[in-house]
Amino acid sequence: MSVTKSRSSAGKAADIRPATGKLGILTPGLGAVATTFIAGVESIRRGRSKPIGSLTQMGTIRLGKRTEGRSPLISEFVPLAKLDDIVFGGWDLFPDDAYQAASEAGVLSKEHLEPLKDFLSSIKPMTAVFDQSYVKKLTATHAKKGKNKADLAAQVIDDIKSFKKTNNCDRLVMVWCGSTESYRTPAPVHASLAAFEKGLEESDPEIAPSQIYAYAALKCGVPYANGAPNLTVDTPALLELAKENGVPVGGKDFKTGQTLMKTILAPGFKARLLGLEGWYSTNILGNRDGEVLDDPESFKSKEVSKLGALEHILQPHLYPDLYGKMDHVVRINYYPPRGDNKEGWDNIDIFGWMGYPMQIKVNFLCRDSILAAPIVLDLALFMDLAQRCGMSGIQEWLSFYWKSPQTAPGLYPEHDLFIQLMKLKNTLRYLRGEELITHLGAEYYD
Ligand SMILES: NC(=O)c1ccc[n+]([C@@H]2O[C@H](COP(=O)([O-])OP(=O)(O)OC[C@H]3O[C@@H](n4cnc5c(N)ncnc54)[C@H](O)[C@@H]3O)[C@@H](O)[C@H]2O)c1
Repeated sequence: MSVTKSRSSAGKAADIRPATGKLGILTPGLGAVATTFIAGVESIRRGRSKPIGSLTQMGTIRLGKRTEGRSPLISEFVPLAKLDDIVFGGWDLFPDDAYQAASEAGVLSKEHLEPLKDFLSSIKPMTAVFDQSYVKKLTATHAKKGKNKADLAAQVIDDIKSFKKTNNCDRLVMVWCGSTESYRTPAPVHASLAAFEKGLEESDPEIAPSQIYAYAALKCGVPYANGAPNLTVDTPALLELAKENGVPVGGKDFKTGQTLMKTILAPGFKARLLGLEGWYSTNILGNRDGEVLDDPESFKSKEVSKLGALEHILQPHLYPDLYGKMDHVVRINYYPPRGDNKEGWDNIDIFGWMGYPMQIKVNFLCRDSILAAPIVLDLALFMDLAQRCGMSGIQEWLSFYWKSPQTAPGLYPEHDLFIQLMKLKNTLRYLRGEELITHLGAEYYD
């Protein structure tokens, strides 16, 4: 196996398999996020758009001392798959091709979609694994039938293998872009791989469709990134499989919109020791994601994923006077006229010196899928990199991209966007044997 070696001024560089050949990116779910991602990559490949929002495409990384002036593009620093080498595939509950699905999602305008029509129309979803008890608001017209869940998993494995062969891919990555499933906590069937495989045979109701895709991916050695708050790979059973097969996994829930703003603002309040009495967040959203979240059980998954961030950033147990009594409320209201153009309002009640209260209002008119698309790209490329570096299991260094980062059991997640970015970049430096950047800076004054 050939490897790329790099300089090792501060440590030994990792052996990284080169990114040769094609990378297939498979998305269960070919809706607003997936089609915006695919259309964007194709538009960039044709020189019609820039990869705005993508760290892998536009980000740089400082190396060595500030005086050295070395800040290469991340894409030049680590061997990532090239956009031209990406091929797309996916599954959906509906038979619409990527052009029809993108038109239906209404994120991108005709001006951007029409020139890509031939390309997008050629991407047709494979039949989905579906169970309506997990997504109450949708009824599938394009789903697999099987004698039990093990049979469905076998069919997804066949899909994966035939996609790889037909498209002549060297490697694959799976990124969940399907709907948010009903809230579930780990059940006995998730306790071990053996219990899970028995549960597949017995069609245990606690095995969600997303877990069948994830199981199939991990069985085939394909990394799995979870764009929704679904439990999926956050279970001992699937982590065991990931470790056994040496496959990277990560989740949960793409960090976009309101939570992105929270993880930008809250670290600032904490850094300046400003108190927080309450944070009230509400949204109106009119796309299919909003419709699915209109069901209380799917909303519960989202709510849990969104509520964790403030608690972990502000650490009330360490700062009881500042954050011991905060009220954190999150609401999502389905309002069809807005489509994918969400509007979020945040009312933040903070307090300062001598307890004097202040208020901050944030009114974010965001486009959810525009914020999510570059995350799908970066996650796919970094997951593929991780696998070529021999990293497996939970990829905590990719916490930057998640609303609710998956961590080792017993470890609290890091939510602060800036710490997450430092963690990500230091991981890349570490992989290349470069000095880690601590920001100490004392050497400039010796
Ligand atoms: N848009 C964002 O910014 C954002 C941010 C964070 C997380 N997410 C999550 O990403 C996911 C996708 O969001 P979206 O806006 O594209 O939603 P969407 O409703 O437009 O697309 C989801 C697609 O998944 C399909 N689907 C549902 N269950 C499936 C299954 N079992 N197998 C295959 N396909 C299935 C649906 O038919 C639909 O076409 C959602 O879970 C959402 O909560 C989105």
